[in-house]
Formats: sequence, structure tokens, C-alpha cells
Amino acid sequence: MTEHPDAYPFYHRVVGIDLGTSSCAVSVWDGAKLQLVRGPTGAITLPAAVGQDRSGQVIAGVPPAEDPENVIAGIKRRLGSGERVRFRGRTYMPREVCAFLLIELKRQAEAFIGEPVHDAVVTVSAAAGEEQRRSLREASGLAQLNVRRLVEDPVAAAMALRADTRPGVYAIYDLGGGTFDASVVRVDDGTVEVLGTAGDERLGGDDFDELIVGHALRQIRERHHVDLSQDPAIRRRVRWEAEIRKRELSTADNTTLELPLLTATVSASVSLNRRHFEAMIEPDLQRTLDLLTEAIAAARTAHGVSWADIDQVVLAGGSTRIPAIRDRLAGYLGWGGARIRTDHDEMVARGAGLVARDYEPASLFEGSPVGLLSASLRLRAELAGPEPPLEADEPVETPDPPGPAGPPAETPADFRRVAEATYMLLLQDDDRLALAAAYGAFITAVQAAASDTRLAELGAALSTEYARAAAD
Ligand SMILES: Nc1ncnc2c1ncn2[C@@H]1O[C@H](COP(=O)(O)OP(=O)(O)OP(=O)(O)O)[C@@H](O)[C@H]1O
Ligand SMILES: [Mg+2]
Repeated sequence: MTEHPDAYPFYHRVVGIDLGTSSCAVSVWDGAKLQLVRGPTGAITLPAAVGQDRSGQVIAGVPPAEDPENVIAGIKRRLGSGERVRFRGRTYMPREVCAFLLIELKRQAEAFIGEPVHDAVVTVSAAAGEEQRRSLREASGLAQLNVRRLVEDPVAAAMALRADTRPGVYAIYDLGGGTFDASVVRVDDGTVEVLGTAGDERLGGDDFDELIVGHALRQIRERHHVDLSQDPAIRRRVRWEAEIRKRELSTADNTTLELPLLTATVSASVSLNRRHFEAMIEPDLQRTLDLLTEAIAAARTAHGVSWADIDQVVLAGGSTRIPAIRDRLAGYLGWGGARIRTDHDEMVARGAGLVARDYEPASLFEGSPVGLLSASLRLRAELAGPEPPLEADEPVETPDPPGPAGPPAETPADFRRVAEATYMLLLQDDDRLALAAAYGAFITAVQAAASDTRLAELGAALSTEYARAAAD
């Protein structure tokens, strides 16, 4: 950990990233305290949605509303699923869509601290499986970030608690857009210990939105005798409206979904009151309480901790703004409000930044484990906005891979194919100097990804040809 109290702010160049289902945030230690990175608009969160601008360039962090048909939201839930995503007329892996968000977060952190950032601690739901974790690491590699640690949400939350609360045993109830994490943690002056966890990586605000969509589409079917539930574009529009009205119901008793011109003949206004909404989400709320009980049971089995030992329940995540959650918890626990506290201030992102302080920054991106360099370059070229400063080991130019057209190089075998084709071109072309110069940079990339002997040989041969041509 680097601390320079005399030269405050002196940012620690390993950042904490919370990649959420609905929103993302980055935090960084400034030498004296933890800061949440503010983006160009001053916001501390980036919507976890990608869209595109008029020229077709990708924009990371668009409000999902802007163009529900061409915006990919909630991608975190699809990480590691093997599913593909259709976007901008082509197919993406979920990890590539996540990488767009991570590239943008890295950029914002760099703009905030004024220096390149190569390292991050990234949060992952405690309930996430191996595939999801691997995919998240790959997404970080695509964004040219060294993942110093994948930290589980409850650990990050506990770290944030330690920074601003007194020692004790806490239960954390984190209900976000896509996942629910319950955990029991012990916070001491020097340490945090996770005593028990339980969770569901498919339980969150997105599900509440879907319940409202179902309600609205049923109302429309009864009134207009038309079933619109199978139309994905209509569903997206209704879901967007549902999310806004759901948030409204956290402060109002009644709301109305306004859905003009869903089709040429169907426009609808669907009213919803808070009681009805609460009844809809009741089974999900009950499940969160069961999972909280499960986390406490795990803490009891492993550490002998019971309900009576818990000082407070801490509510985190955007969905805990729903008033019924607090009431339901208080009733379930039989506790007064004082033992339930709320932390809406990006607790998990702050915790990730605190964990990040324990890691030394590297001077460079160390390379992705599966040779995703060309995919990474492609994604950055597709993203709108300023090019990030070049890494020292990065090619100066990134010409299109020559030779037979095909998918971009992603694996060592792909690199080898591209290298062979490049080598042939280099031997044949009359204008060797220009060609050699253009591919000089590419050779560096090939060498960086070298993982078999033939590829290394080709890299060396290309380097020799390049040197010869340059000397001619
Ligand atoms: N006032 C509100 N009332 C009800 N729900 C809200 C309110 N504000 C935000 N939400 C919901 O909170 C969710 C987002 O919360 P949060 O930003 O904590 O999630 P996340 O960290 O992105 O997701 P996750 O941790 O599940 O991956 C969304 O479903 C959003 O609709
Ligand atoms: Mg979250």
C-alpha cells in the first residue's frame, strides 16, 4: 500500500471496481481517504448498459431508457452463460459487453487520478459460479486490467463497514438489480471476517421489474384482447417504464405506467399501487429473508454466532430503497428500527477500493491469460470517446489482420494463422518498406501472445524481415 500523507492527494493506482447488474462504480484511495470516482457528468455510478451513438460507435454507461431496442443492460447476469448477445448487427460474448463497461470505468478512473491505471480489485457476487468468475477475469483482460483480486461482495461490504462503524457482528442484506447477497460478518479494529453467507444470483430489482411487466401485459390483454407478451421489443419498452414506476412507488402510494402506441392500435395506461406491488414481490422478499436466515445458520454452525449476537442488519443495494423491505425485516426479526441501518452509498464499491489498497500497482498491463489481445484492441476501437493512452508494450498502429478474412484472432492458433499470412505478404509485396512498417507494430502484438514455438519462430522471422526492410 502506498501512502504519502505529505503529497495528498496521492492516488493508490489499484482501483476498486463494483461491476453491478444495474450500475457500476469505481473507488480509489487518495492517500488519506477513499474516493468514489466521478465520471464526466459528476455521477459516482455508471449505468451498466451499453448503447451506440449516431455513428455506430459503442457508448458504455448509457441510461437504459435512451433506446431500449439498441441497448444491452443487465449483462452481468449473462456472464459465463455461454449465451451470445446480438448488438450493432453482430454477435458479442457477454464478457465483451462487460469489457466495454470496464474500459469506460478504467478511463474514468484514469481521468480522475490523472495517471494510467492497470490494476483493479473487482467485485463478484458470493453466489457466482466458476464460469462467471472466469468470464469476469476475461472481461477484465479485454479491458487491459490486471485483476489483483476478485473480491466477493460481502467481503467488500464488510471492509466498507469496518471503515465507518464500531467493532461488532453485522448481517448485511444486499439487494441490487440482479443479485441478493446475505452475509454475517465480524468487524474488528484490524480485521473483517465473513462468518456465513447465502445468496441468489438471480434475485433482484430486475425480477421486480419483470413482475410489473407481467401485470401490465395481462391488463392490456384483458382490455385490448391482444397478447403482446411474446414481442421482445414491446417487453423491453414496458420493462423500462416498469423500472421507473417501481422507483416511484418507493415514495408514492400510486403510480401509472404510461405506454403510448405499443402497437399501431394499442396504447395503455396501467395503474399500480404500492400495496399491489408489495404483494407481487412478497414471495421474493420471503426468499431474501430465508436466505438471511440461512446465512445466520451458516455463521452459527461455523462460528457459534446466533441472532442475539448480531448488532445490526445493514441494508445495501438499490432495491433496499423499497420501504416494504425495511418493514418486512423489522417484523421478521422482531427488532426495532435502530438495529436496521441503511448504506446506500456504494458500499460494495467502497469496500473494493479499500481491499485494493493492499495490492501494489504494476507498471503495465500484464497480458490476458488467453491471448485476447486482438479482441481487446477491436473492442477499444469500437468504443466511442478518446483513445486511452497507449501502453508501452502496445502496437503503435493496429492494422487489420491481413490474409484470409475471418473472425478476429483470439486464441494462439488464430494468432498463428494471422502471423503466417502476414509473413507471406511480407515476402511477396513490392512495397516492402511500408508494409513492414505497418506490421512492425503487429509483430509486437503477435510476440506478446506467443505461446507455441511456431508462433515464436514466426514472430522472430517477421522481426528480422522488418529490420531488413527498414534498413533497405
Ligand atoms: N428508489 C428505488 N426504489 C426501488 N428500487 C430501486 C430504487 N432505486 C434503485 N432501485 C433498484 O435498485 C436496483 C439497482 O441497485 P444496485 O445499483 O445496488 O444494483 P447493482 O449493484 O447494479 O446490481 P447487483 O449488485 O445485483 O449486481 C435496480 O433494480 C433499481 O431499479
Ligand atoms: Mg451490487
